[in-house]
Amino acid sequence: MTTKTSPSTSTIKQNRGGLEGVVAATTTLSRVEGTAGRLTYHGYNIHDLARTTTFEEIAYLLWFGKLPTRMELVDLKVRLLEERTLPTVVLQVLSDLPSTTAPMDALRTAVSAWGAATIQGKPNLDQAIALTARFPVFLSAFHRLRNGLKPLESHPELGYAANYLYLLSGHMPKEEHVRALDAYLVLLADHGMNASTFTARVVASTESDIASAVVGAIGALKGPLHGGAPSKVQDMLEAIGTQDRAESWMRDALARGERLMGFGHRAYKTEDPRAEELRELARLADPREFALARRIEELALALLEEQKPGRRLYTNVEFYSAVVLASVGLPGDLFTPTFAASRVVGWTAHILEQVANNRLIRPEADYTGPTEQHFVPLGERQ
Ligand code: ACO
Repeated sequence: MTTKTSPSTSTIKQNRGGLEGVVAATTTLSRVEGTAGRLTYHGYNIHDLARTTTFEEIAYLLWFGKLPTRMELVDLKVRLLEERTLPTVVLQVLSDLPSTTAPMDALRTAVSAWGAATIQGKPNLDQAIALTARFPVFLSAFHRLRNGLKPLESHPELGYAANYLYLLSGHMPKEEHVRALDAYLVLLADHGMNASTFTARVVASTESDIASAVVGAIGALKGPLHGGAPSKVQDMLEAIGTQDRAESWMRDALARGERLMGFGHRAYKTEDPRAEELRELARLADPREFALARRIEELALALLEEQKPGRRLYTNVEFYSAVVLASVGLPGDLFTPTFAASRVVGWTAHILEQVANNRLIRPEADYTGPTEQHFVPLGERQ
């Protein structure tokens, strides 16, 4: 862990807080070039990866630092397959949750229960694989339980994306759905020092365990300013409903001081390259929904520009994620947990990178409260 720019008072004041512009770690995993609108994993351009690889290949790339050979990929798939089980303790905990529980909360609880029952020692790759393999299992188990259905066993012939869809519905998924979900999972697997990854690294830096670090990351991802946006994008698309209502709906939302979900990004000062890929996936997956989303996107960008000319707000990854995930049959409240089922690879890769060269992450705060106060004992205070 190196801190190139110290988060000094002047830095924080200059950049309006939020640690904007502060380099908090060194990483070889992914590079976000916000001005160029470029994202690479280990130097490979996200556009090439999204169009040609599977999620398992990307997991290999992020965990092992190189693209796998055919045999290496088979080995990793076998390891993931062996771990795709639902431990009794997690089944019990998920069964006890109210059916109204948000799936993201159920996932956080499941990971915590799994960690309590399983994890010992320093974070390692075996744990990363074991945990990643179980994300779709935990999510689908909770989804079925809340609908009064029994969780299913993983299908031995299906990969990560296909098995997730199978576990949710009990049906063999359509090839085009698997391809769209796989591309989505590839696109979301890692993204520099985003809030949830930073959280995971902070927890790992205290020499805590992998489950605790991932539980923290899930909590950070949940918020609408980070991974919680796509279901809100879907709410917006549904509330608008038809193209003719789009402008007045968004004008009203902006007038109330609300943010338009799916737009703006801390790092990108041009279009998010993942949004470009997801736009195309959405166009292929659901042409009707795409037409409405595209119109809303164009209007939103125009209204945001009109509100503050020259401000650089663009479509982010979440806008078309909503269309793509809905098109493969996922309900809105599984969008963010599905994001987590991809990002868990990035989180665990970052946790391993952190522990391999650890120093406690412990920034400072700029104290702005009162000073030199005169202490008065409890009984004498008025
Ligand atoms: N709608 C309306 N106004 C916006 C939006 C938006 N989507 N995004 C930013 N703004 C405005 C802010 O109100 C602010 O205006 P001001 O300067 O007049 O106060 C200005 O643009 C800058 O906003 P910040 O919050 O400082 O920008 P920051 O870089 O911190 O925020 C963020 C990035 C949180 C993503 C923001 O753009 C946002 O809230 N977007 C909507 C939520 C969303 O889509 N989240 C998903 C992000 S992608 C991801 O994490 C996977």
